[in-house]
Amino acid sequence: MLGHGTPMTRLSQLRDLGLFDASVPRYTSYPTAPHFTDAVDMAHTERWLAAVPCTATVSIYVHIPFCERLCWFCACRTQGVRRAAPVASYIETLKVEIAQVATAMAQRPKVVRLHWGGGTPTILTPAQITDLLATLHAAFDFMPGHEFSVEIDPTLVDADKIKALRAGGMNRASIGIQDFDPRIQAAIGRPQSYERTHAVVEMLRAAGVQSLNTDIVYGLPHQTLSRIARSTQQVVSLNPDRVALFGYAHVPWVAKRQQMIDPESLPPPEARLALVEQTEGQFEAAGYVPLGIDHFARPDDGLTRAAAAGRLRRNFQGYTDDGAAALVGLGASAISRFPQGYAQNAPATAAYAGRIQAGQLATVRGYVLRLEDRIRATVIERLLCDMMVDLAALRGEFGGLADVLRPGLKEVARVFDGWVDVTPDRLTLRPEGKPLARLVAASFDGFLKPGGARHSQAI
Ligand SMILES: C[S@@+](CC[C@H](N)C(=O)[O-])C[C@H]1O[C@@H](n2cnc3c(N)ncnc32)[C@H](O)[C@@H]1O
Ligand code: SF4
Repeated sequence: MLGHGTPMTRLSQLRDLGLFDASVPRYTSYPTAPHFTDAVDMAHTERWLAAVPCTATVSIYVHIPFCERLCWFCACRTQGVRRAAPVASYIETLKVEIAQVATAMAQRPKVVRLHWGGGTPTILTPAQITDLLATLHAAFDFMPGHEFSVEIDPTLVDADKIKALRAGGMNRASIGIQDFDPRIQAAIGRPQSYERTHAVVEMLRAAGVQSLNTDIVYGLPHQTLSRIARSTQQVVSLNPDRVALFGYAHVPWVAKRQQMIDPESLPPPEARLALVEQTEGQFEAAGYVPLGIDHFARPDDGLTRAAAAGRLRRNFQGYTDDGAAALVGLGASAISRFPQGYAQNAPATAAYAGRIQAGQLATVRGYVLRLEDRIRATVIERLLCDMMVDLAALRGEFGGLADVLRPGLKEVARVFDGWVDVTPDRLTLRPEGKPLARLVAASFDGFLKPGGARHSQAI
């Protein structure tokens, strides 16, 4: 068993484990999207939609793939638009897709959550917001008190848009911050003042939005311990209910706009670890509870309560307490999750619109889950949510089939000795091993192979 007492020993041990060289998925799904194939098509989605019983609850995700500004650091699937026409035409296509999906779901299940993400959903005009919400509400049965959350760019929202969203039931908002430091903002192509962000937070609270999330990012160009400390202090002063602290994923081979970022200006992996651990400490000192690998929430927040009860889930948006049986993704590139598997819409807006306008569902790829995938998915999700896997419960659920985990468990016990505890009934990642969580999870990934798809840094 290893001891990792002094900071230097810990750092060199983490280095020996490959933490600073490895690239692994973020596991917002298992299998991850690069393993989706065209073996899943619209016929699958049609069947899977039809099979959702009326007693089931579903969540809906709507993707708005447009931004007025295109931040250089951003790896989200979105495109810059300067004219209103492409957005207006996209909304019309979405409305057709909503009708198609609702028809396919003949049993009208109960919608418990609606999330608008992107891109920048607040690029929509108040009239477009109202129109899209009316179409959704005409097509689906929303449960009273359902959750409606919206990703908000503070530089592209105003009182009228917030009013339209509130009238449609928005009760949660997620605000992109990244970092408040002007030098960092200049290097990532995203100017955004603290004052503007503060004003939007005030507007949202005054409008009655009960729950606010903020996104911040470590590992950005020119980010230092003192710069991120100041930004974190400013984030805390906004008093968000939840915070997502993402590691900057520098993947210019996927997100071409990141070529605008000078790789020399990026903190090296060891510095990234120091940035994230200092920031985690700051949030905890401010009274936030750490959740999963990269989230924080107030002690009385629903996400904190879900985590305490073992109900935290990981999905495409990060962490959630959403227990719905199915997630229906609408819009270009949106991914749906059904008990049977995943289905992804055509990623390019034109291809997506072409399919929908031709009267077809827009699914172009996906994945049919096998039993083995479900077992691996459960282990990876529980690890990244709870830092612990109840192996006895897994055997109870999957019986002897859980034996597929044996090689992974053996490898984890050997490679991560001193950082994990493995007993026949439980796999636990020790608190000091938190930075290793994605690496440990990757040991249970049946698809990862040397020379396979490139991912973002493990830390
Ligand atoms: C769709 S965007 C945010 C919504 C809105 N458009 C905005 O900019 O405020 C969702 C979040 O993904 C995160 N993100 C985007 N690109 C990233 C990257 N390369 N690495 C890490 N996080 C990233 C950012 O924190 C961002 O706020
Ligand atoms: S961070 Fe937000 S506004 Fe910037 S490009 Fe990404 S989605 Fe668009």
